[in-house]
Amino acid sequence: MAGRREAPLMRGAGGSSRGSRIAMAVAIGITLGCVCAFLFPDGLFRPHSPQELNAGLKSKRGSSAPCESSERTNMLKSELASLSEKNAELKKQINDLTVKLQLAEQGKDQAQKQFLVLGQQHKAGPFGTVKSLRTNPTVLPDESVNPGLAKILEKVAVRKELILALANSNVKEMLQLWFENIKRVGIPNYLVVALDDDIEKFCNSNEVPVYRRSLDEGFDDIAKTGGNHAVSGLKFRVLREFLQLGYSILLSDVDIVYLQNPFDHLYRDSDVESMSDGHNNMTAYGYNDVFDEPSMGWARYAHTMRIWVYNSGFFYIRPTIPSIELLDRVANRLAHEKAWDQAVFNEELFYPSHPGYDGLHASRRTMDMYQFMNSKVLFKTVRKDAQLKKLMPVVVHLNYHPDKLFRMKAVVEFYVNGKQDALDPFPDGSDW
Ligand SMILES: *[C@@H]1O[C@H](CO)[C@@H](O)[C@H](O)[C@H]1NC(C)=O
Repeated sequence: MAGRREAPLMRGAGGSSRGSRIAMAVAIGITLGCVCAFLFPDGLFRPHSPQELNAGLKSKRGSSAPCESSERTNMLKSELASLSEKNAELKKQINDLTVKLQLAEQGKDQAQKQFLVLGQQHKAGPFGTVKSLRTNPTVLPDESVNPGLAKILEKVAVRKELILALANSNVKEMLQLWFENIKRVGIPNYLVVALDDDIEKFCNSNEVPVYRRSLDEGFDDIAKTGGNHAVSGLKFRVLREFLQLGYSILLSDVDIVYLQNPFDHLYRDSDVESMSDGHNNMTAYGYNDVFDEPSMGWARYAHTMRIWVYNSGFFYIRPTIPSIELLDRVANRLAHEKAWDQAVFNEELFYPSHPGYDGLHASRRTMDMYQFMNSKVLFKTVRKDAQLKKLMPVVVHLNYHPDKLFRMKAVVEFYVNGKQDALDPFPDGSDW
């Protein structure tokens, strides 16, 4: 069943352009048909229409022999019959194509996709008992995608899930702090995707599970020299293989301090479960932002749906078709436009379908902002609040600050070594 769900994936880039070419061809055909119908209301072959045929025969009668004209009449009649037959067939073909075009425009392959996702039909059941599907079925693992990686993952993963980080030499120091904390907490299932030889050696010498990504065209350059954002784009391409192999991945930047095992704090009910860039209940979990336009009088208040973006540096992604489609969409857009991967990631996750666009509609869950804490929450709120200060986060992500290494060390001092004033020297934001 799961294996058959590959068809909808094809629809992305190639499908729509092929669809529009077909639509164009059909449109040209219909237009030609209309023009012909207008110019030649009696069919393309007007000189042979019955009236003219009769008129022609009458005028000819005077000068030609009757037997000759009746022979000619028969010939013309049969010609006429075959031509009007062809005409009818053409009309039918145009009709068929019009119907097909309409269907294509209205439903595309939605119905088929729905069928594939929902499978059996169910009755709705009584009020209040209805729950829609947000935990999509996982794909059938496909080892042929990367047998070498499949072997590594068999050893590293626990219950088919693991933490994954991409790293090159630019982030070596942070990577060290990253895996030191993971080891201290005692998390066994994590893996570093080494983007250069130095990081591979570094991991091996520290007994950190490492996978050296074999390089393909274009990938290599970004991997070696890319800054933070460029490398962030790569991860969507790398991630795909892990999901195809049937693993759930907790994707992690390296500027993250682990304080508890995150796998003890996941819901696992959505395609994507992500840390938020939000800093309070509203911004992290969503709110109705009322926009005021007084000139509209009675209707001056416009309600808008708002949520702070998901952090694409720390999210848990289940191996489902919507998840893999998400990765493909993001990787495809990053390959073709100059954009920030986190912005693209969120646009694909949140924009609904609208004219000319099919939304992804993957299921999403926002992680608890105090358990999976960004550095704005920590430095703006938590460190100043006596109650919140006592909470032990699962991870702290230094995403909001450029002096990452120092703040990571301070977080360790504060939460691990109990140094109560370790966070005090830092300003809320950066000093530029
Ligand atoms: C935020 O939401 C949680 C529950 O989701 C609630 O317990 C808490 O009081 C809320 N905080 C504020 C400041 O409203």
